[in-house]
Parts: sequence; structure tokens; C-alpha cells
Amino acid sequence: MKKLVLLALLFSFMVVLAACGGDDSTSSSSDDGGETVSNDASIGIAMPTKSSARWVDDGDNMVEQLEALGFETDVQYAEDDVDKQIEQIENMIVKGADVLVVASIDGTALSNVLAKAADQDIEVIAYDRLIMETPDVSYYATFDNFQVGVLQATYIEEALNLAEAEGPFNIELFGGSPDDNNAYFFWDGAMSILQPHIDSGKVVIQSAQTEFEQAATMRWDGNNAKSRMENILSKAYSGGETVDAVLSPYDGISRGVIQALKGVGYGSGDLPMPVITGQDAELASIKSIVAQEQTQTVFKDTRDLAAVVVTMIDAILTGEEAEVNDTETYDNGIEVIPSYLVEPVSVDIDNYQEIVMDSGYYSEDELE
Ligand code: GAL
Repeated sequence: MKKLVLLALLFSFMVVLAACGGDDSTSSSSDDGGETVSNDASIGIAMPTKSSARWVDDGDNMVEQLEALGFETDVQYAEDDVDKQIEQIENMIVKGADVLVVASIDGTALSNVLAKAADQDIEVIAYDRLIMETPDVSYYATFDNFQVGVLQATYIEEALNLAEAEGPFNIELFGGSPDDNNAYFFWDGAMSILQPHIDSGKVVIQSAQTEFEQAATMRWDGNNAKSRMENILSKAYSGGETVDAVLSPYDGISRGVIQALKGVGYGSGDLPMPVITGQDAELASIKSIVAQEQTQTVFKDTRDLAAVVVTMIDAILTGEEAEVNDTETYDNGIEVIPSYLVEPVSVDIDNYQEIVMDSGYYSEDELE
């Protein structure tokens, strides 16, 4: 008897699921009675690396949302190897993907492979990172990248009370990967807040490394950031100066910087950790914030970004225009790519519970 009840429950669950899938097809029909989404379409998803937890979340969220609608998905991670990513995209084209979603490693390296996709009428959505120097990108789904930098720098500005305190304060600057268009947006957003304080002398960059090229971190690698911070500490802070804040554009970089700082005694005795920003609200960094090492991060809800991508795929497959909210900012060197920007949120010890725990992004178990 119990078995029957269970079977009946399972069946009704499947009916509900099927109905949801059906609903979606109907809702995606155009107002003029045009085509509906073919829910057996196959979506190729090329992600940069599994070495950063955020991209794993991105891939998982997209698969979950697309498969719930009946799409087939093929997700590949390239471990930050540009040639491997090109090969993976080539395979997706050969296997007959209907749409490609690509988070590039080197944004300028995909022109040839995307031309092959275009030859097969496969449209491409640039995911989080803009793909540069190619006409073969239909949409760009991302966050407000300039705003990410503004949030990081504003956090430092407020934490050090740069508006009123006398200073001067010592800040060191880290930039993202120079082959990632986002890195320049984060930097420009941050410098729009910090530059006036540097110009007035209230903020001092003891390392004198004030240009993006000097501060950049190839492939966002935390180890590179750690080495650079160690160098800076030994060369520019050997006379008793202390670091008051570090502008870091990404959690992996922040954690590298923290290791370097701990190595010379920050975070113990009478040498407090400086204010350290970040991005992505990676689990390791939320733990670091709770442990009062990293100070801030910028949460970008990958569930929301996945939902944006689903609507773009839907539009492409039905021959409609996808909803976008920015048609001016993201010029990839060939043309401005219609974009949908999701709002990033600043997170610290005071609001992490509400933003990343209560919203179900992480569970209490994961945090332990
Ligand atoms: C950027 C992305 C950031 C961060 C970084 C390193 O493109 O926008 O959120 O994840 O890559 O992975």
C-alpha cells in the first residue's frame, strides 16, 4: 500500500513537472502567435575554471534552471587554459549545440571559433565576461561591473572615514586579469572613488604602484597576488608603516593578500588586519569575513544571472528580442553588445547572514 502511495506521489510530481515545462513553452510564444521554444534544444556552456567556486555555482545554476525547462546542457570547464576552451567550444559546435553560453578566459581569443559558430547559425551569449573583437555575440549577461568597483572603494572610503578623518592612510591596490574586460570596469569604478583621495594626499600608495598595469593580477591568481603583496610589504612597509586598506577586486585575490599580511603579523597582537575588499562572496571568503580577516565582498547572485541567460536563450530560439537594460556600455571593439546588468550587493559581517544565508545561497552547514 505504502508503495502505491509513493508511486502515486511520484507520478503527480512528474505531471506537475511536465506541466511546468509545457507552461514555459506556451508562455514563450510570441504575441503575434510566432514560434515557441523548442525545449529539447541543446545549450553548450563554456566556463573558465573550476578552481574558483563561483564558476562552479554559475554552471550548476544554469544547468538546474535549463534542465528544469527540458533543455539539454553540455557544461565544460577549461581550467583557465585558453586553447582548451577553444577546443571545448569547437566540440560543442560539432555536437550541434543550438546556443552557446560562454564565460571566456581570454576575452580576445575567441574570434575564430565564434566565427565557426556563426557559420552554423549558432548564436552566442557572453556570460559575465564580455567577449571582445568579434561580431558574433548576440547578448551579454552580466552584473554592473563599474558598480562593483564603486562598492569596493566606497566600502574603504567609509570604513576609513576618508571624508572626515585626517589621515593619511596607506592603501594598496590590486587589479584583475588584464585579459578580462571586467577587470578594467572594476578598476575604473574603484578609482572613480579613490582617485580624489589619492590626489588630495589623504590616501598614500606606499608602493607607488598606482596604474592598472602595475596592479593587475594575471588570471586572477591568488598566488600571484600573494607574491606581489609580499614584495610590497618587504619593499614599501619596512620602516614601520602599516597598511590600512587593500583594494582587492576578487575573493581569490583577497585570500592571497591575507596570507601575505598574516605572514608578517597582521591580524595578531597590536597589528589589526587592514580593510580588505573582495568580490563573488565565495564560501571561503564568507568564512574569512566571519573570522574577521577579509572585511568585505561583493555578492553577485549567480541564480539571477542564470535566469537572465534563460530568458536570452528563450528569445534567441523563438526569434524574439531579449529584454536588455543596457545598450551603451559594453563595446567589444567591433560593436556595442546589448546587455542585461544585474545589480551587485556589498556584503560584510553585518549583512552576510541576510544576503547570502537567509536567501538560501549557502546553508548553515556549508558555513561550518
Ligand atoms: C571576473 C568576474 C568576477 C570574478 C573574476 C575571477 O570576470 O566578473 O566576478 O569571478 O572574474 O573569476
